[in-house]
Amino acid sequence: MTSRPLYIYLQRPDNGEWVTVGRYTLDLATNAGKFLYAPSYIESGFAWSIDPVNLPLIPNHDFVAPRYSGLHDALRDASPDAWGKLLLQKEHQLPSNTHESKYLVLASNADRWGALAVGKTKLPSVANTAFPKLPQLDALAQELLAIAERRPPVDAKLRRRLVGTPSIGGARAKATIRDGDDYWLVKPFLPTDTADIPLLEHVALQWGTLAGMNFAKTVLHRLSGEQSVVRVLRFDRHGERRFMTISGASLLGTEYPGASSSEVARWSYPRLAEELRRIGAPVEDWKELFDRMVFNAVVGNDDDHPRNHAAIYQPSEHRWRLSPAFDVVPNSDETPKRLTLQVSVGTFAISRAAFLADAVRFGFKTSQEAASHLDALLVRIESTFGQVASQLPTSLRSMLLDRLARNVKVLSGLL
Ligand SMILES: Nc1ncnc2c1ncn2[C@@H]1O[C@H](COP(=O)(O)OP(=O)(O)OP(=O)(O)O)[C@@H](O)[C@H]1O
Ligand SMILES: [Mg+2]
Repeated sequence: MTSRPLYIYLQRPDNGEWVTVGRYTLDLATNAGKFLYAPSYIESGFAWSIDPVNLPLIPNHDFVAPRYSGLHDALRDASPDAWGKLLLQKEHQLPSNTHESKYLVLASNADRWGALAVGKTKLPSVANTAFPKLPQLDALAQELLAIAERRPPVDAKLRRRLVGTPSIGGARAKATIRDGDDYWLVKPFLPTDTADIPLLEHVALQWGTLAGMNFAKTVLHRLSGEQSVVRVLRFDRHGERRFMTISGASLLGTEYPGASSSEVARWSYPRLAEELRRIGAPVEDWKELFDRMVFNAVVGNDDDHPRNHAAIYQPSEHRWRLSPAFDVVPNSDETPKRLTLQVSVGTFAISRAAFLADAVRFGFKTSQEAASHLDALLVRIESTFGQVASQLPTSLRSMLLDRLARNVKVLSGLL
């Protein structure tokens, strides 16, 4: 028994028109999920693969999904994660063993990540929705908190809107607001947080930018009850245009979350740099990934998992680029000694030797060149902390200052 086909639509990067890019079917007996590029798409000569690693543009070829119980990586990227799934489970009384493809279908196209949409008709039909606006940020954050705490709606209309469009990923409560042509992810402080996570995320993303890297822009707000909310500029949307994206998990060909322990061998920064190279991103992006690995180590962000990295297709450049960094949050409970992705073959531990061991895979010509690059980067990270530190309460400031001093020593080879 095969499921009814699900048609996959793509907003063309060149002119913004929606086209049908392919068809997904699921064999309900075996959980074999198949994706076929539409002959009309191939014949049109479009050059855009929806996943250049796992779904190259091959005509008349049924790609069988190797992960996610039969959902292809690019479709999993366009589906919700823990937070959105929780909302959909409640809204539609779904059992916990619900197939991944069900979440893909139920989550609305309106807020989906990247430039893919799904539907049951051969011709694209993608509804546009009015997003909550900036003045509603306070109400939106209050409603997210109410959902997280299982309280009844504060604003019934907003609640319906939030539970109706939970397609964006991640585990934390979040929603999108629109301000002019910009879209922002709104992430409030949660009652379960042991530290001011939105503030830490805001500070870390600003800090990375000041240290010379491409980090997503953020704005911090305080709700009436003093609770903080961070909003993060979405890089996959502008006005009516959506940009193609691919997660680090897809680039690495690994399942996240839910990978088996053997798959962790695939989780690696130098491998991710090589995948960026393979999909056509320039050498500055591979080096930027090296820089982010260093930054994560210095600030103690060990939630740097495969789905917290991404690439984005830049229509003006006709190529994939590393996306701006997002979800970079210093661990507030302990100073990590390891990162989630390997820093060089077989090593997760933070040390100068390990960070330099595979440096040529990030595009450095020699390990000496990488060493000087690393030293200059450490100086930039250290010297820019002062520009963000005043936003932190004393306890978090001294925690980060101690961590910074120690990790700079470790990565300079002095400890
Ligand atoms: N600035 C951004 N622009 C576009 N997409 C983003 C941006 N930030 C995050 N995303 C997308 O939204 C997802 C969830 O966001 P984020 O990682 O910030 O949430 P989270 O709930 O803190 O995640 P986690 O489950 O890793 O804790 C990301 O995996 C990514 O796909
Ligand atoms: Mg995340």
